[in-house]
Amino acid sequence: MSSEPTNVPTHVAVIMDGNGRWARARGKARHAGHRAGVKSVRATVEAAAERGVSYLTLFAFSSENWKRPEEEVSSLMGLFVEALRREVAELHRNNVRLRFVGALEQLGGGLQQKMAEAQQKTAGNTGLFLNVAVAFGGRWDIVEAAQSLARRAVAGEISAADIDEEVFAGALRLADIPDPDLLIRTGGERRISNFLLWNLAYAELWFSEVLWPDFDKSDFDMALAYYAGKQRRFGHTGDQVEAVKC
Ligand code: FPP
Repeated sequence: MSSEPTNVPTHVAVIMDGNGRWARARGKARHAGHRAGVKSVRATVEAAAERGVSYLTLFAFSSENWKRPEEEVSSLMGLFVEALRREVAELHRNNVRLRFVGALEQLGGGLQQKMAEAQQKTAGNTGLFLNVAVAFGGRWDIVEAAQSLARRAVAGEISAADIDEEVFAGALRLADIPDPDLLIRTGGERRISNFLLWNLAYAELWFSEVLWPDFDKSDFDMALAYYAGKQRRFGHTGDQVEAVKC
């Protein structure tokens, strides 16, 4: 398969799954899988930037992940703090703009502060735009958008009839960037798991059996090659799409 697909997705979203199974297969605690997963995050960010992807959105911690054992949640939070301490300078050097999306107010104060500092430091960068979804859920995002539009309606700023798909999309957390063209999920499951429910409406889906800590640049290239071979129709016929290209 070509490692240089011609049709590169503008926005790639990733569900990083399989850390726990990776650790169990090695007789290690789940935390070891999450820790090993940081290496794959680094490889994926590098690959995305090298291949010309403009936006990368990683699902690091879902709204539902709070239900995991307290010990696992707190070790994950510790890992996020550590990863920020170690990686932000390098991301900044590589012109990456970092943003966190989710119910960040649910996180500890120290982590929130580190996230805010990282966002501020990299805000002016013009290379890869890296979104990390933490305490995020697709349904949460939609409910938040509905609430903000309802507040505007009550304030008399908009009427119910003004709320069309464009206005609704504009109230979501990733409103300022294009929808993902490609979703990658590792770990063998074929689910969206309450990720970007609205934004993934027309994404191509690539499911990999590889467990996240084993995911590397060649796996990323496989997903990009799959995407490059797809004709995206957005409801049109194949003939219509071909006619527009001519
Ligand atoms: C899912 O695997 C993985 C997570 C819930 C956490 C993802 C976090 C990282 C990769 C750590 C670093 C992240 C950043 C952004 C620095 P799982 O635990 O559900 O695996 P399993 O399905 O095998 O149990």
